[in-house]
Amino acid sequence: MRTLAIGSDHAGFNLKQALAEHLRARLGDDAVLDMGPPSAARVDYPDYAAKVADAVLAGTVDGGVLICGTGIGISIAANKRAGIRAALCHDVTTARMARAHNDAQIVALGSRVVGEQVARDLVDAFLETAFEGGRHADRITKIHTLEPGA
Ligand code: RB5
Repeated sequence: MRTLAIGSDHAGFNLKQALAEHLRARLGDDAVLDMGPPSAARVDYPDYAAKVADAVLAGTVDGGVLICGTGIGISIAANKRAGIRAALCHDVTTARMARAHNDAQIVALGSRVVGEQVARDLVDAFLETAFEGGRHADRITKIHTLEPGA
C-alpha cells in the first residue's frame, strides 16, 4: 500500500496524530490523508469510520487506518460499508495476517490497548504485507456474498 486515509474518534486522536506523522515520514506527505477529527473534542466513531471507508471504496487511497479506544466500534462501523474489510489488530502477527489471508484494506486499532511503538510496528506490517490470493481469494468472495443485497 502506497497511500492511506487515517481517522479516529476522540479516544484515538493522539495516536492518530502520532501515526499520521510516522506514516508521512515513511510514505511521503501527500500519501497520507487525515480524515479527522482535527482535535480531541468528543466525536462519534461511526462518522470517521465512514469517511475512511468511503475514501477506500472510491479509490482515493489504497487503504486506511482507524483508531478508537478499543478499535472495536470503529472496525464494526467500517465493516458496515459493502466491500470493506476492516481488521481489528493489536499486534504485528494479526496485522500481517489481515493482509496475507484477509486482504483487509483497513487496519483498526485501540489506543487504550496498544502503545505507540506497537501501533507503529503493526501499521508497518500491514503496509508491507501482500495478499496471498489463491484459496483466500475465494473466501473473500464468499464474505461479500453475505452482504445485504449481494
Ligand atoms: C469512546 O469512549 C469509546 O467508546 C470508543 O473510543 C471505542 O472504544 C468504541 O468502541
